[in-house]
Amino acid sequence: MSTPRTFAIHTFGCQMNEHDSERLAGLLVNEGLAPASSEAEADVVIFNTCTIRENADLKLYSALGHLKAAKAARPSMQIAVGGCMAQHERGRILERAGWVDVVFGTHNLHEAPALLRRAQTQGPIVDVADAPDPVVNRDMAPALSAVRELPWAAWMTIQTGCDNSCSYCIVPDVRGGEISRPLADLVAEAQMLAASGVTEITVLGQNVNSYGRDLTKRRPLFAELLRSLGEVEGIERIRFTSPHPKDLRPETIAAMAETPSVCPQLHLPLQSGSNRVLRAMRRGYTAERYLERLAAARVSIPDLAVSTDLIVGYPGETEADFDETLAVVAEADYDSAFTFIYSPREGTRAAAMTDAFVPDDVIKDRFERLKLVLDRSALRAHAAREGRLEEVLLEGPSRRSADRWSGRTRQGKLVHVDADAQMRPGALVEVLVEHGAPYHLMGHVTRVLRPPRHKVRIALSVS
Ligand code: 5AD
Ligand code: SF4
Repeated sequence: MSTPRTFAIHTFGCQMNEHDSERLAGLLVNEGLAPASSEAEADVVIFNTCTIRENADLKLYSALGHLKAAKAARPSMQIAVGGCMAQHERGRILERAGWVDVVFGTHNLHEAPALLRRAQTQGPIVDVADAPDPVVNRDMAPALSAVRELPWAAWMTIQTGCDNSCSYCIVPDVRGGEISRPLADLVAEAQMLAASGVTEITVLGQNVNSYGRDLTKRRPLFAELLRSLGEVEGIERIRFTSPHPKDLRPETIAAMAETPSVCPQLHLPLQSGSNRVLRAMRRGYTAERYLERLAAARVSIPDLAVSTDLIVGYPGETEADFDETLAVVAEADYDSAFTFIYSPREGTRAAAMTDAFVPDDVIKDRFERLKLVLDRSALRAHAAREGRLEEVLLEGPSRRSADRWSGRTRQGKLVHVDADAQMRPGALVEVLVEHGAPYHLMGHVTRVLRPPRHKVRIALSVS
């Protein structure tokens, strides 16, 4: 028997890309390929790319540069570039990195194995579809054969694309308009995942709470989806990302509050606290409206952990605008946040405002000041959990120390506990929190709530 060709997937960007990589890995395994032990030894190296900010592009070309010599020494090695940047750049990737064999886009991920096969005899191929194939997109059958990092946790893409037009964002250009998968298919997928031992589902979409707008006039479908997933036996934790503040309806908050398996966790991207900037960004809400909705969610959902995304240095952002952001961030009292420096993306409205670009040193200073406010609220939120009992889903040994194990609370917080020989990945345990640091909690296990439910440990193959 000949040894199978091996593959490695290098993923940049968001959770949707991580999930696309898992699905791609599943397609390649179905074709008879096996996960490689390292990128350098792999017969096929696939980069699943991101293009949301410029540094994502730079990272890709640097990674491709590192592989140039390996490819020259071993010409049978195949290199493929897929995902958002490939969708956007298309043939330009081959112009800059001529040693790439295949370029495929976000809309034809399912064709990647066939393209790799064809490129073995035909030479380099660029195949990027202009628009998603609605049937394939809605179907997403490969989700069930995805090679998952944690066998008990699965991502579920409920919708691709975005119908909004935030002035800084390249996503609608790259991923196209919103396409939702039918609710019945999603529930069936969750049932099949549960049958294979999955206990946690993270629902993904660019704008999850507008889910279903393209399927039916009957709204709100997202709240209905949460409630339906909540009825799937065996699914104990449901998370989702990201909702848009302008579409956060009371029905969604009620569904979160009334569905026990929906975790008390809300990622609500603010972007800026200045109404002037929010208007320029075309976000469709004011800071006051955002805070009102957040307050309503906190009243209805006990113990809610809240996180956000923020952009610093949007063109024309003044010191007064930034002060407003600091004030709103302080009031929102976030558990955690992703902070980004504004990055001009070709073709977006904001990128044309070159006269108003904020100087780098000003942005850096604002970025640091924002981090201070965010770190303070994160520390406060975590210190408040000291002495509490938390339900933790154990993941395995901590990356930093073999004496510790890591897991997640229902709020999605990372917890480290002292390791002991009885610990099993996928087990649900109770943890007494002893210390809250800005980015994690520390504690010890007081009892096992249930043993692992998944049947097999699937090998890690997606980096
Ligand atoms: N520059 C900086 N940050 C951006 N984001 C999206 N586009 C840009 C950009 N051009 C951030 C937003 C979004 C997150 C996924 O990425 O905060 O919520
Ligand atoms: Fe981009 Fe705005 Fe759509 Fe989010 S909602 S993907 S920021 S356009």
